[in-house]
Amino acid sequence: LSSIRVDVSGVEVGTQISVKFLGKPVFIRRRTEEEISEARAVELGELIDQSAENPNKPGADASDENRSLDESGEWLVMMGVCTHLGCVPLGDGAGDFHGWFCPCHGSHYDTSGRIRKGPAPENLHIPVAEFVDENTIKLG
Ligand code: FES
Repeated sequence: LSSIRVDVSGVEVGTQISVKFLGKPVFIRRRTEEEISEARAVELGELIDQSAENPNKPGADASDENRSLDESGEWLVMMGVCTHLGCVPLGDGAGDFHGWFCPCHGSHYDTSGRIRKGPAPENLHIPVAEFVDENTIKLG
């Protein structure tokens, strides 16, 4: 399977980049403290999809700690593909839950990329990813 390395040294807190991986967009967001605490304050019972949807942590629940790439929660890496019918959601605090919003049919995702409202059935999926050094994320 192919993999790519992404230099994230230029990504400022509160911004994200989008890269193509296997023909699909991948969002790499460096979250603010506020986004992290908002995501971590959510009870599992409030979530529509209780799975982390994270192949790096198979079977884990959808708590934010199981979705972020690093322990502090600063980095969130997700497929930029709405789990409804595959549109690319808008980011940077979009939607009712300040995360991502899919304009195709109105799905709202929170600051952890979890589906909170709308027709999408699942949280935004997380690709196989890891930090290989402090500035580089390997996808795949
Ligand atoms: Fe995103 Fe339908 S494709 S809401």
